[in-house]
Amino acid sequence: MGQVLLSARGRRRLLEGHPWIYRSDLGKTEASPGELVPVKAQDGGVLGWALYSCSSKLALRMVTRSPEQPNRAFWEARIQRCLDARAGAGLLDPQKPAGACRLIGGDADGLPGLVVDRYADRLVLQCGTEAADKMRDFLLEILLTQLTSRGFTIQGVLDRSDATVRRHEELESRVEWLMGEASMGQLMVDEGGLHYAVDLLGGHKTGHYLDQRDNRLRAAQLVRELGERGFCQPQEARVLDVFSYDGLFGLLAAKAGAKDVLCLDQSASAGERVLANAKTNGVEDVVRFEKVNAMRDLGRRVDEGESWDIVILDPPAFARSKQELGGAMRGYGELFRRGFQLLNKGGFLVAASCSYNMKVDAFHEVLVKSARDAQATAHLLDIHGASSDHPRRLDLPETDYLKCAFIRVEPSTGFVGRYEIPATSEDSEE
Ligand SMILES: C[S@@+](CC[C@H](N)C(=O)[O-])C[C@H]1O[C@@H](n2cnc3c(N)ncnc32)[C@H](O)[C@@H]1O
Repeated sequence: MGQVLLSARGRRRLLEGHPWIYRSDLGKTEASPGELVPVKAQDGGVLGWALYSCSSKLALRMVTRSPEQPNRAFWEARIQRCLDARAGAGLLDPQKPAGACRLIGGDADGLPGLVVDRYADRLVLQCGTEAADKMRDFLLEILLTQLTSRGFTIQGVLDRSDATVRRHEELESRVEWLMGEASMGQLMVDEGGLHYAVDLLGGHKTGHYLDQRDNRLRAAQLVRELGERGFCQPQEARVLDVFSYDGLFGLLAAKAGAKDVLCLDQSASAGERVLANAKTNGVEDVVRFEKVNAMRDLGRRVDEGESWDIVILDPPAFARSKQELGGAMRGYGELFRRGFQLLNKGGFLVAASCSYNMKVDAFHEVLVKSARDAQATAHLLDIHGASSDHPRRLDLPETDYLKCAFIRVEPSTGFVGRYEIPATSEDSEE
């Protein structure tokens, strides 16, 4: 068995509570790729156990601070903790066979590098590290045993280890069925009263954006709130779902009673699923899809004077590194400004960013600036994070990446949207 000695700085970092140790903080190291190793101080004392990467700058991911070597019971307890948390949140219920949720959220769940999502009776997993590759079959066997004992019958397991994060460890991309029929592509799952198709093999991430589940439900409530606030009856509401993917924000808004829902995305296959999902859920007369480049398309809609009651903006990550943050903030600013400009008075903007590198303060700053640029008087109702099955560990801020703002635009006083910019004394004709 290998072992890793920490430098004095590495030891300090670990004792300060950091669960990740960088290669520059290692001393003498004897370990094989992906090995579970004891982490030692210079005096030989064991500070805990970690998974080792031989190629990433991030060399150690701590799994425990106990000197005891993790055994099978340790990993069983950890997986049980994951399942208990999902079951406690009502997301893992054998009485709901078409449910979908993240079962294991990698480092945030104490299982570094491993993500497992459940879609009805299928699992889709992703290994992001060589250690996760190595432990995959062992952890999967424990997971399947525990799911069976909880009353679930899993028919298939797809390994979709094709995320770009694998490049940090120079790992090849891999997509393979570990169990179940290889022809299986799409399957139907439930969310918030919707029945929708997920493309396991070709869809984004593990097939779907499960992290936005709670925010989609909150956004659908806004349709009813429009009516409660006397601004517009739900059956009159018009909703623009930008970067819609399979259209779940829009479909839930349609189910909540909206009159017109337009989903925009650059993916034609996502668009096909939007329309198919609309039909399955009986809202095909309400939901439309257009395949567009959203940034360009929104500019045109602003120029043509379109207006909507709810605008949802859920773009891909604009800042994939710290270096990209400046440009990303300009991009988000431009996007959110257009969102404000497209809103009717009294309407709602739902604006999201999944860029970890843009922290919540910077996100807030962009919202403030874009509201000012659009001359909108707007109230921030909430900024929410990812759904509860995507835990956020305080000692790992990287796990807190998603921000979703719910904003109401002032219906009367102070609002000067694009149709109502009042003449000032300088530009008045009189
Ligand atoms: C974060 S996902 C949206 C998730 C979706 N709102 C949901 O709740 O499932 C971002 C989406 O933006 C789309 N996209 C990326 N760049 C785009 C662009 N320039 N124009 C339109 N869509 C784009 C991707 O195809 C992807 O579906």
